[in-house]
Amino acid sequence: MEKVTVRASKVYDVVIESGVLKNAGEYAKNVVGAGKAAVVTDDVVDSLYAGMLIESLRKSGFSVFKMVFPNGETVKTPENAFEIVNFLAENKFTRSDTVFALGGGTIGDLAGFAASIFLRGVKLVQIPTTLLAAVDSSVGGKTAVNLKAGKNLAGSFYQPDLVLCDTDALSSLPEDIFNCGCAEVIKYGVIASGALFEKLKKGIRNDLESIIAECVRIKSDIVSVDEHDRGLRQLLNFGHTAAHAIERATDFAVPHGEAVAVGMVIASNYAWRTGFCGKKVYDEIKELVAAYHLPATTNLTADELLKSALSDKKREGASISLVLPETIGKAVTKKVGIEGLAEFLKIGMTETDGAI
Ligand code: GLY
Repeated sequence: MEKVTVRASKVYDVVIESGVLKNAGEYAKNVVGAGKAAVVTDDVVDSLYAGMLIESLRKSGFSVFKMVFPNGETVKTPENAFEIVNFLAENKFTRSDTVFALGGGTIGDLAGFAASIFLRGVKLVQIPTTLLAAVDSSVGGKTAVNLKAGKNLAGSFYQPDLVLCDTDALSSLPEDIFNCGCAEVIKYGVIASGALFEKLKKGIRNDLESIIAECVRIKSDIVSVDEHDRGLRQLLNFGHTAAHAIERATDFAVPHGEAVAVGMVIASNYAWRTGFCGKKVYDEIKELVAAYHLPATTNLTADELLKSALSDKKREGASISLVLPETIGKAVTKKVGIEGLAEFLKIGMTETDGAI
């Protein structure tokens, strides 16, 4: 068992443990008190884990309500957030009661956002069931829904009271979904820990608990300094500039983790070609991405990615912070305008052995 304490505007524990779902009720009772529990999940996770969670909550004295959405990013809408809010209101939830977000990043974002606005904030327990959610979206308090104009355009910074991460659930993920989470794990190695990066070369499954804890510790250190994403937290976006553009250009057909893998290769290619790091850094990132069966390239052109990046409503009129590795374990940000972004994509998508 590993426990990481996050010290943001709220101080809370992230418990990473094999089989923790069975004891979720006891863990949660000690933190939020055994009141009403709204378990929000999706239909895939519902059939796998909701029964175990609900049994544990009931045993610990919670009175349990459940809401199930279809699996997939399309459920992250304001309408569904208000469905949860109305569900909480109809069942007379108060600020002493708790929303349990059981699922991947989509459910965590949706249920977390609903928890943050109902009564201006009820208690929230995040229970990530994907590696990606475990190392990233369940920790740090970003919640959001998508608008027609773009992804994550309405949201809040709302820290959970507790995060419970059951490594048994993560180990049974389909290989491709598990590997998508590995892209975010590689990201932590590049931006903050050469030791973690080295460990990842030997594989992840045998050391899953401690590797997740290491990622959460890195995120926690960053969030404790810059909870509201004004500077340091932008390092967590390593690989995400191109990734978001790839996701939008393909209408989210490319999963987030795969897009991040391509984005990290593009960013590190740009970094070595413009003197931020040596070629070895780029080569090592590309090799580790390949070792986790993640893609390093996209069929989209630099122009297509630029068009997609510029259609992001969050970016309009603003400069963009590129995140670039200096070594394995240390990254920096560089602010650029549209010209700089175009150059980043053009150079970053140049073949290793090609000329700029
Ligand atoms: N997922 C990036 C962040 O939490 O800032």
